[in-house]
Amino acid sequence: MRAFLLAALLSGALAAQAADVFDFIPAGGRTLLAGVFAGGAPADEVKGLVAAKRTREEWLAHLRARSKALPGLQKLDEKQMLTLADYLSFNMPLPASKMPADPGRASWEKILAPDGRDFALNYCQSCHIITVVVTQDRPKSAWLGTLNKPSHVEIKLTREQREALASYLVVNAAIPIDLVPEDLRAGGASY
Ligand code: HEC
Repeated sequence: MRAFLLAALLSGALAAQAADVFDFIPAGGRTLLAGVFAGGAPADEVKGLVAAKRTREEWLAHLRARSKALPGLQKLDEKQMLTLADYLSFNMPLPASKMPADPGRASWEKILAPDGRDFALNYCQSCHIITVVVTQDRPKSAWLGTLNKPSHVEIKLTREQREALASYLVVNAAIPIDLVPEDLRAGGASY
């Protein structure tokens, strides 16, 4: 009986973990890249991504060219490819000190720097609901404008992290309100 209760409790906890209220916010580059590498990607292919410096456009072309060798890339849609290319342009090459001994089997989610979604979840909820952020449809200059307002200038994100967050939001925000869970709609855009 005890064991049964414990099992029920545990599976309840796991279910709660799996269905996160923020699941509706699209994955950022950290998670997308870790997903591409999961399941044992060839070490030289992994190195080819994490040890190079390219612009966003160059990354996009490169990712398309590597999709045969890295099948995880074939599962990404256009928005996700753009999100990943953007992330890579900000975060690669990986600092030598972070390069794992076995790039084909490393825990990449933990090694990789935070992405735009991570920044939004960690830095954009203490004064207002995250809905204020992820439902807005705006160009990068407008995002940076908000982040430079007196109300936002103190947030502990570097200039480069702000750029990375703004780039992520250009591609992934503008989420229709009916895709936002009820719990996060209350008060909607009031702050
Ligand atoms: C220190 C408190 C604080 C934090 C943290 C905060 N905001 Fe805000 N935010 C405000 C306030 C206050 C307003 C109301 C309008 C104003 O004064 O800017 C606002 C309004 C907004 C608006 C709508 C109005 C506008 O100016 O565009 C957006 C978009 C926004 N915030 C984005 C963000 C993002 C992105 C983050 C995370 C990086 C964030 N906020 C974190 C205080 C905060």
